[in-house]
Amino acid sequence: MAIDENRFLADLHRLREFGASGVGKGVVRPAYSDADIAARHWLAGRMIEAGLEPQFDPVGNLFGLAPGRSLLLGSHSDSQPEGGWLDGALGVIAALEVARSSDHPVSVVSFQDEEGRFGVTTGSAVWSGGLPLEKADTLTDAAGVSFGTARAAMGDLAQDFVDPARFSGFIEMHIEQGPALDAAGDQIGIVTDIVGIRDMTITFEGQQNHAGTTPMHLRRDAFQALSLFNTRLNDRFRNVVTPQTVWTIGRVDLHPNASSIVPGRVRFSMQWRDGDAARLVRMEEIIRSTAHEVAEEQGMVLDYGPMLGLEPVAMDQTLRLALEDGAAQVAPGKWRRMPSGALHDATNVARHLPVAMLFVPSINGISHDFAEDTAEHDLIAGLAVLDHAVHKLAGPAG
Ligand code: GLV
Ligand code: MN
Ligand code: MN
Repeated sequence: MAIDENRFLADLHRLREFGASGVGKGVVRPAYSDADIAARHWLAGRMIEAGLEPQFDPVGNLFGLAPGRSLLLGSHSDSQPEGGWLDGALGVIAALEVARSSDHPVSVVSFQDEEGRFGVTTGSAVWSGGLPLEKADTLTDAAGVSFGTARAAMGDLAQDFVDPARFSGFIEMHIEQGPALDAAGDQIGIVTDIVGIRDMTITFEGQQNHAGTTPMHLRRDAFQALSLFNTRLNDRFRNVVTPQTVWTIGRVDLHPNASSIVPGRVRFSMQWRDGDAARLVRMEEIIRSTAHEVAEEQGMVLDYGPMLGLEPVAMDQTLRLALEDGAAQVAPGKWRRMPSGALHDATNVARHLPVAMLFVPSINGISHDFAEDTAEHDLIAGLAVLDHAVHKLAGPAG
């Protein structure tokens, strides 16, 4: 049976209705929210219709299992707090379409908490064994809710994880989430490798006080400490980083966050990414020494949360070549090989299986934003490349 583009697009839009933000095509579907859980139950129903056996594992990763040994396709269906409709969803629905139209056994997965409400690609990290479940259960979100409490909201989950040995490989289709394909007018990106990441929370605790009466030289102002830390860090990174290195302070919790109070505490996320594991280590040293120095100078007590991370990972050559073959047929002269600066579940899956990824363009390079979008003809081109690769990997009879 051939893939059905209209059925694929219709399901992609149906999934968007779970947690629709009402702003553009955006979604608010963080891991374990009501919208996320409802979407997973809808997906499980679609898997049954496709002849797959749905299975929720202990953390709410949803697998649609084909009988016997199969190729695994998929991504995640949770979103950022302000998320786009395609980030993760595209890979899951493309997997479903290929699975239900393919003559070869294809299983589908939607991993849980890829977007890191609790950690870094939490669901696939636990499934792969990279993050022990007991440790994951102690991780908390920005509001202090633990992973253990959140996953209990999914109700009766299986006791066992799906055995990776039943799969022969994993392919994840995704939007690029960056500007390269769109700017070049290319239609398909074949991923060569995925960068590594480190992520932790840092806290500076100073002294809360009155903003009118406390002389500047007596203040232990947590915001000033963060400001100084950020400026020094950017300066010190200059001799260490490459144009591909990125670092982000994306979440800042300033206490008590009032205009007439000298802030006594700031807790913030510190995240850095690079394709070179040694550079990630060097950056960590600079972050810690700078934080220590600023804390001393500004009279702060310094504290770190747990450090999470993933190493850089190269894609499997056999799977990658099958995707490249598809790209050359579907988008001749309009595809490229490229690294992924975004994280993906494929990194964790690579602990057990050969993995590969393909990208379609993100309009204006926008993602992790309600405005995220991709031209329909590019979505369809990506689906065709994925389908081609699955047939090619199944052998000449396929
Ligand atoms: C995943 O969404 C990431 O942060 O790269
Ligand atoms: Mn994603
Ligand atoms: Mn994302």
